[in-house]
Amino acid sequence: MRSALLALGLVALTSGFSLPASHSSAARGRRTSVSMALDKPLCRIGTRGSPLALAQAYETQRLLRDAFPELREEGAITINAMKSTGDMILDKALSEIGGKGLFTKELDVALLANEVDICVHSMKDVPTWLPDGTVLPCNLEREDTRDVFISPKGKTIAELPNGSVIGSASLRRQSQILAKNPTLKVVNFRGNVQTRLRKLAAGDVDATLLALAGLKRMDMTQHLTSIIEWDEMLPAVAQGAIGIQCRSDDERSLKYLAALTHAETKIAVDCERAFLATLDGNCKTPIAGQARMEGDKLVFRGLVAKPDGSAVFETMRVGSPSEGVAMGKDAGEELKKTAGADFFAALMAAA
Ligand SMILES: *[C@@H]1O[C@H](CO)[C@@H](O)[C@H](O)[C@H]1NC(C)=O
Repeated sequence: MRSALLALGLVALTSGFSLPASHSSAARGRRTSVSMALDKPLCRIGTRGSPLALAQAYETQRLLRDAFPELREEGAITINAMKSTGDMILDKALSEIGGKGLFTKELDVALLANEVDICVHSMKDVPTWLPDGTVLPCNLEREDTRDVFISPKGKTIAELPNGSVIGSASLRRQSQILAKNPTLKVVNFRGNVQTRLRKLAAGDVDATLLALAGLKRMDMTQHLTSIIEWDEMLPAVAQGAIGIQCRSDDERSLKYLAALTHAETKIAVDCERAFLATLDGNCKTPIAGQARMEGDKLVFRGLVAKPDGSAVFETMRVGSPSEGVAMGKDAGEELKKTAGADFFAALMAAA
């Protein structure tokens, strides 16, 4: 399977090399008399097949066409949806099935085999290390990253009666909920937004938390009870950001992606990911981190916590945007020290 993939990739690579010639003005002139359609796409987009992932891929296609006239020609861009391991396993908490890279492995293979030219990712699925031969030079403008609280039993987490049950598959949310009120119970809760709202309405749980960006994208904000600010529930590293990856030696894709990137989002996401990489947590470590520009300063907040909320270590940095990566690393080093080796060892043992 793998070698077949690679062989296919080689064929694509060989034909790919002849591509610039076939787009010389002579070739173009000849073709226009017959058809405007390109016989080879200029940009093949790789994506997961979920509705959300496809929406992100189409958004990328739209932005590429706006920026580059040659990409408006019929067939210039193709979208290739792929199933990832993470999409095929829905009945287990993600932390139980090996976490990192679960949603990106298949796309990495297709990218390196030259079956696609760029991969569109939800940034929080992308491991802090990238496979050799690939880079991630582009983040699209980020959505609102806050979480929302949804419940018929109270307006905020603080208003929930003791012992209430909150549905969430996220250890990051669980630890911050339990830090506020240890009598609350957090139960595993997955499936799409519609499924979760149905379970909430049926009384399976008393409340749930979701990402505001997802609700907005699906036009479902009428369901939210309240928006939770960062100091009450810090979002995940890279939450709400879309990242686009390409091969490091693919000049054409690099040119396309340089035009698409949103500088402010990239600075914030790079800072957050530097924090995450320094902490080197596994998928059982509740970690949160967010950076944003406030005036001309970059402001970062980060935390690590015990899953049961009995300990939360927080920190903050303010600096110039050019120091974002250094700020993230420094904040990570600080929490590593304050939380201590025992803290991380206990989490590793639990994994
Ligand atoms: C909720 O639990 C906390 C912690 O055990 C306790 O201090 C508080 O009095 C309880 N509140 C109510 C309304 O029972």
